[in-house]
Parts: sequence; C-alpha cells; structure tokens
Amino acid sequence: MQKAELLTIIEKMSPKEKVDQLLQLSADFYTDDAEDRTGPMETLDINETTIANAGTILGVSGAEKAMGIQKNYIENNSHKIPTMFMADIIHGFRTIFPIPLALGCTWSKEAVEEMASISALESSVSGLHLTFSPMLDLVRDPRWGRVMESTGEDPYLNSEFAKAMVTGYQGDDLKEDMSKVAACVKHFAAYGGAIGGRDYNTVDVSETTLREKYLPSYQAAIDAGAKLVMTAFNTIEGIPASGNKKLFRDVLRDEFNFKGPVISDWAAIKEMINHGVAADEKEAARLAIEAGVDIEMMTTCYDKHLLELIDEDPKYMDLLDEAVLRILELKNDLGLFENPYRGADPVKEKEVILSASHRESARKIAEKSMVLLENNGILPLSQETAIALVGPKATTGDLMGAWSWQGKFDEVVTIAKGLSAKGKNVTVASVESDLFENTTESLEEAKQLAKENEVVVLALGEADWMSGEAASRSDIRLPQSQIDLFNEVRAIAKKVIVVLINGRPLDLTAISEADGILEAWFPGTEGGNAVANILFGDVNPSGRLSMSFPENVGQVPVYYNTENTGRPYESAPDEKYVSKYLDVSNYAKYPFGYGLSFAKVAYEGIALNKETIDSSDETVEVTVTLHNQSEETTIETVQLYVRDLVGKTARPLKELKGFTQVALAGNERKEITLSLAVKDLAYVHPDLTWSVDPGEFHIMVGPNSRELDLVKTLVLK
Ligand code: GLC
Repeated sequence: MQKAELLTIIEKMSPKEKVDQLLQLSADFYTDDAEDRTGPMETLDINETTIANAGTILGVSGAEKAMGIQKNYIENNSHKIPTMFMADIIHGFRTIFPIPLALGCTWSKEAVEEMASISALESSVSGLHLTFSPMLDLVRDPRWGRVMESTGEDPYLNSEFAKAMVTGYQGDDLKEDMSKVAACVKHFAAYGGAIGGRDYNTVDVSETTLREKYLPSYQAAIDAGAKLVMTAFNTIEGIPASGNKKLFRDVLRDEFNFKGPVISDWAAIKEMINHGVAADEKEAARLAIEAGVDIEMMTTCYDKHLLELIDEDPKYMDLLDEAVLRILELKNDLGLFENPYRGADPVKEKEVILSASHRESARKIAEKSMVLLENNGILPLSQETAIALVGPKATTGDLMGAWSWQGKFDEVVTIAKGLSAKGKNVTVASVESDLFENTTESLEEAKQLAKENEVVVLALGEADWMSGEAASRSDIRLPQSQIDLFNEVRAIAKKVIVVLINGRPLDLTAISEADGILEAWFPGTEGGNAVANILFGDVNPSGRLSMSFPENVGQVPVYYNTENTGRPYESAPDEKYVSKYLDVSNYAKYPFGYGLSFAKVAYEGIALNKETIDSSDETVEVTVTLHNQSEETTIETVQLYVRDLVGKTARPLKELKGFTQVALAGNERKEITLSLAVKDLAYVHPDLTWSVDPGEFHIMVGPNSRELDLVKTLVLK
C-alpha cells in the first residue's frame, strides 16, 4: 500500500479510532489460553469496541489462533485495518537456543544470526509479525536478573550482535519474505544501568557514558533497519524514558534518524505517575505523546485522555496522526494490508517447529556458547570413564532460562540424557536433589557415588526464575545447599567437574577446588547434548566470556574497560594510597573475553602495516601469528584491544575494537590479520561529539582482555 493510501485511511478515521490504534493489549483480551503474562495485570476499564480496535496485540501465537483473531479483527474494523501480533521471542520460539548472555559468549555473529533466523521462521509460521528482540542493554552488574537477556558488557561486541540479530530476524525484504519477522530494539535506554542491580531502579549515568557505552548497540540495530523501539522503565537524568523528549525526539529520531514507531514497555507510560513525574494519567499521556511514544502497552492513558488533550490543543491531533501513521507504516512494511495472515501457516507450523535441523542448530550454538572456566587436565573425559552425575540440575528440563517463549521442559535434552547417551559408564544419582535443599538420602547417595566412580560431574546452578525480569539477587553465590553438596563430594571424589546452569555471572569462590568448571549458562533445548559433547571432547570448547565474573559481589560493578584512575594500583601495588580493596583484588575472577579450550595457542609477533598514520588513513592492518601447540584442532577467538594513551576524557585501559575466530589444526601455525578501523579510535568528547584525536595508541592482541602481551604503539598524526 502506498503512503498516500495510508494517509487516506487516516483521514477517514475518527479520533477515537485513531486513539485505538495506539493501544496494545495482551493476549488475554483475545483468547482464553493466553501465554504467560509479562507484566503486572490490572483491570483496564475498556469496552468491547476498544478491544476490537486496539491497534496491536502482544503475546498471541499459534497460526490457527492468530488467523482467527485477525479474521475477526478485520471484519469488525471499519477501515479494514489489520492488527499486528508481537511477542517476546528472545532466544527461540519453541526450539530454544542459549540465553542471549550465552549467545554473547559465542563471539560468533553467524551463530547469532542463525539463531534469529530460525526464531523468526518458527514465529512467522505461528502467526507472529514482530519480536520484542534484540534486547541491547549493556550490562555490568550480575545482580540484575536481566543480564541473561543481554549479550554482555562491551559496546563493540554488543553492536556486532545487534546487527546480526536484526539481520537474522528481518532479512532484507520483510514484505515478501514470510520466514522473517520485524525486530524491536529494547530498552531505550540504559536499562542495564539500574543502581544496585535492582530491577526497575534508577539509572544515573553521565551523558558521556550513556553515549559511549550504552547507546552504540541500540544505534547499530537501528542502522541495521530495526522496525520498532521500546522504551525502558527507568529514568534517564531523572526523566522516565517514556516521557523523555530529549532521548526520543532529539537522540532517537533526530540523531539516529529512526523513522519507525516507538512502543512503551508494559505500563511504562502510566508508571510515570509512580515515578512522580506525572500527576495523573492525563499528564502521563501528554508527556508520552510529546516524547513521541506511539504505542501504549497495557495501560490506557492515551485511550482515556488523548481526546481531551486534543480538545484543549489541536497540536495533539497532529501528534496523534503522526503516531497512527507510523503504526500503519509498520503494518504496511510487513505487507499486512495485502496479506493480513502473512506467514501464518498451520501446516508449515507442524513441519518447521522443533524440527531436527533446528535442534541441531540449537545444539551447535549451545556448544559454541559454553565457556570452559577451569580444567586441570581432567577434561576431556574418555567415554569409558566411570562417571557419577549428581546435583539438582542433572535431570531437570530447566535448562532453557527466562524468556523461553513456547519452550517446554519435556522437550529439553537433560544433562543426564546427554551424558548417558555418550558415556559408556555413567551413573545418574537416583535420588532427586533440590536446588535449595539436600536430604540425607541425596547426600548419602552422592557420597557413595563419589567413592565408586572415577569422576563426579556435579550439575549445579539456578532455576530459570532466578534470572530474567524482576529477578535481581543481592547474593550471587550458588545456593548454600549446593556449596554443601560440592564440599561433601569434593572431600571424597577423585575428580570433580562442575557444570553450571545459570543466568548471570556468579561468585564461584566456593567451588574453586573443582578439577574442571564448565559454564553452560541456560543452554536451551539441546543443552544436555551440548554439555556431553564438550565433556567427552567431541567438541573443543570455544566460548569466551562476554561479561566479567567477579571474585565476589562486593567488587560489583566489575568490568574490563576501566579507567586507570589517578592512583592506579598497578603502578604501586605496595602503596597505601592507591585504588584498591583491602580484602579482594581489583580484578574479575574470570575476565571479559576469557575461556579455555582443550588446545594451547601461543600468540607470536605483532606487526602493523603502518605504525604512523594520519587522518587520510581508514584502517590499520594488525598481523599476528598463532601457534596451536597441541594436537587438538581448535577455534581461537583472537581479540584486538586499543588504548588511547591521552584523551580529553580519561580513556579506558583497553577497549575491544576487533575480533576474529580462527580454526587451527593440531600444531598449526597461522598468520592472521585484523583490520582496525581508524574511525573506531573515536570517543565521546566533552562536547558530546564523537571524534578521533591525534596521539599515541597501544594496539594489543590476545586471547582475552587480560592476556595482552602483544602490544604495538600506533601514532596518529
Ligand atoms: C516486559 C519487558 C519487555 C517485554 C514486554 C512485553 O515487561 O520489560 O522486555 O518485551 O514486557 O512482554
């Protein structure tokens, strides 16, 4: 449909019909078997006409269901405007992939794009038109439950994944490609900066930090063509995002040139009253429509008060028309006017959902996402090894994590199932153990199994509800019962390997005596097979952390790209007056970019194609030689970091500016070159603009953000 036709429809719409298009209602209003709700439910005193004309619907999926609702909707809509179905497909629709924090540990844009593409296909055949993904909130605080939903702590890496997800979800022709769905960037902005890691709490960051650390990933997704942006719950500079004109009109629309609609998060417009920034719902409606929030999710400030505002000032009719046009344009981008049922296909739904090929993809991506944190040589295991599998995560289907849309526990390959299918001598503890409580029986059996077997694999971690939204934790250790179980087993067992199922970086001090620690995150539907393939060495682990693991929660926030401070500990470690703690190091237990494999790769020699450049140069080629000193084939994630030695603001000691994954055969030496874009040396100056200063830069290459022995100085004239 041409834009002129859309404008004609808008002209014919009554003001109330226009206001109805701005309302998004949950599935509960349209079907009696609604999926899980994702926000606080309150009674919305709206009538059947409003329900029938609400512009978009969240949380409905299933081809038959969606088609039935759409048919009914269009029949009742006086302008034959189709509705639009949106839902939170965050890391899979029914085939569940590793949580996004684990996807961040793959360091594979291809893997993340594949995840998004499969998620889009399963969503589209089920009648969905848009996913509320990617969530691109940069995270530095593992107390926050939604770190599981982010790809991590680094702006560059998050931006790379932002582009990969949008491409995977949307493809390059949303109108014609029925296997794709629209993507929604969230939560604009800086939701991950909640003070204390407490969900929905105040975010108080400088505009420099906001622009340099938090905004780049959202911008990357918008530049990649994301169709919708969702407001964050939090304030920025004291103003709730949903009423923040500077954030949405000046930054998102004028600077980022975003033309699509903005949707509020669940009830976020009305919650400006709780924030104390709106006296009532009418004020909330005014602030939001002036900020350019087009869709109100699950509250009715617009429904109740926009017409009043229009009566008082005609400028609000212009704002309303602007919002309706953006919503209809989004529906038009999806081809819904011509084909309101779009990709919904009950037959295809049965073929593609949870197909063998999707499961295989989920398994391979889970294998890439797992991070080997410790290995004293115990891994990989032989299939003949006598293994006891113990612990509360051993036999459970709770391996998918929060936001696992239609994933079902009984469709998950458990760790017990995966290990038993591959190992020839695996004994699984028969006494069920609880996440938070050991019983005499479960402990006795664990100790007995430890005596009888060569290796104990302890499957420990969190339940899915312990991370995700509204799931912040002040204590990021394993539950005490699991620490007790570890200690009991450690005291007896010959060898102990811990497999962790969790949605956040944890304080792992209590299990530091393990012979091996595999961070498996919430690995998804194929988690058990992925764990087994790594433990038995069929897959050489290649995951690298995308978020730092602190020594303890007292260090938080701990992240790799820190400033040097005026009294850096490194320059005078014995000095009193330096930046340090009296009781713990300054450094993460496991730093950003860290991960072991079964191989040992040496980094030899670093060279730049130019050691002095000027503003006419666009790239610098950085060449290193890798030497796989083992027989194992391996995938090495080579990381390129930069330090700007002097800036107008204090520059981080290191910033990721490039990476590549290199396959190495046993004993292979390979020279590789990374291309550093000179524009990536830019940073946000005190006047809040991005630019590159002449000066000296350290160019560093290594396997993680801590082991950066290869350094070259680059001079920019
Ligand atoms: C939730 C989440 C948001 C989600 C929305 C719809 O409150 O904050 O990420 O997309 O509601 O479910």
